[in-house]
Amino acid sequence: MNIPFNKPSIVGKEIEYIHRAIKVGHISGDGMFTKKCNAFLEELLGVRKVLLTTSCTHALEMAAILLDIQPGDEVIFPSFTFVATVNAFVLRGARPVFADIRQDTLNINEKQIEDLITPKTKAIVPVHYAGVGCEMDRIMWIAEKHNLPVVEDNAHGLFGKYKGKYLGTFGCMATQSFHETKNISCGEGGALLINDPEYIERAEIIREKGTNRSRFFRGQVDKYTWVDIGSSYLPSDMLAAYLYAQLEEWQKIQSKRNEIWEKYKIALEDWAGLNGVKQPYIPEHCEQAYHMYYLLFPSLKKRQALIACLKEKGILSVFHYQPLHLSDMGRKFGGSPGDCPVTEDVSDKLVRLPLYYSLSDSQQEAVKSTILSLAF
Ligand SMILES: Cc1ncc(COP(=O)(O)O)c(C=O)c1O
Repeated sequence: MNIPFNKPSIVGKEIEYIHRAIKVGHISGDGMFTKKCNAFLEELLGVRKVLLTTSCTHALEMAAILLDIQPGDEVIFPSFTFVATVNAFVLRGARPVFADIRQDTLNINEKQIEDLITPKTKAIVPVHYAGVGCEMDRIMWIAEKHNLPVVEDNAHGLFGKYKGKYLGTFGCMATQSFHETKNISCGEGGALLINDPEYIERAEIIREKGTNRSRFFRGQVDKYTWVDIGSSYLPSDMLAAYLYAQLEEWQKIQSKRNEIWEKYKIALEDWAGLNGVKQPYIPEHCEQAYHMYYLLFPSLKKRQALIACLKEKGILSVFHYQPLHLSDMGRKFGGSPGDCPVTEDVSDKLVRLPLYYSLSDSQQEAVKSTILSLAF
């Protein structure tokens, strides 16, 4: 493809910092750069504790362990999300309960959540789709009323805000992704954001193979030992070095993505109106993270026509999540067609356009003009 959907970029001191990590002689987990990333995110977002992880998937797995999810427990998710959001909890034995999404933001429909709560419900997991905040006032109100924890899957939403407050700071925990496709990346990586201090100590243990190694390194115990279940969720400090260089340049990255996003919006506005295509909707009270630019077509056929037309010009555009309640696993949990009609409809009609830091003006021009040449 001449214009890929995504491309990783060097934006600052990534290479220099990787060299430094090697020179310092600490390339396993929790070295100097991991600590810098954790502190950077804690300070900027105002989170009690940040722990870098090997992926967002692993941060979600940690959250499920920390909430003590047991076989038979129910957890509420949007059906329109990535498999990992749900699998992390299903791994502990949870039964997923799927809510549909809103027509406008494509986030979990908060109005459906309360009806899905049963005595077995143990958590609510909203996903800030495309880095646009879910209706957190309502979600937190429901959670408090029913005494349920909220874990925000904020894989898309780093630096996004809802009513002036950073996404990832509402629930007792939140998870970030630093996968290659995300705004800030180190190839594969993630973080667990802990807002409720009750979970901090156990989170450190779970992340360190179920040992109290972190306490040992802080001199709080004189030897470390096996104290709980856990796994190895620490990224190498070489990855953290790459990530820290990206975090240092976060404003530069966000402003470039903002610029590309706005250019798509302005250029495609009239064409979209004429062809019954919807552009992303950002509520006034949300500051989006500029993670994704998508279009919603009136039909699957028209969406596929656009993907094919762009492909002919060497431009890769991609659809997104398939409804989880209709997947093989979703059906095993009782999902059937019609359960989440908006999710079922949107998954057939959505397409994502190339959006990455190094996308040049002429490349974006090629994407826009190819789309504008299409009339249905
Ligand atoms: C909503 C959501 N949650 C979780 C993940 C998993 O992220 P990771 O690849 O860092 O495990 C993704 C991946 O794109 C995602 O879109």
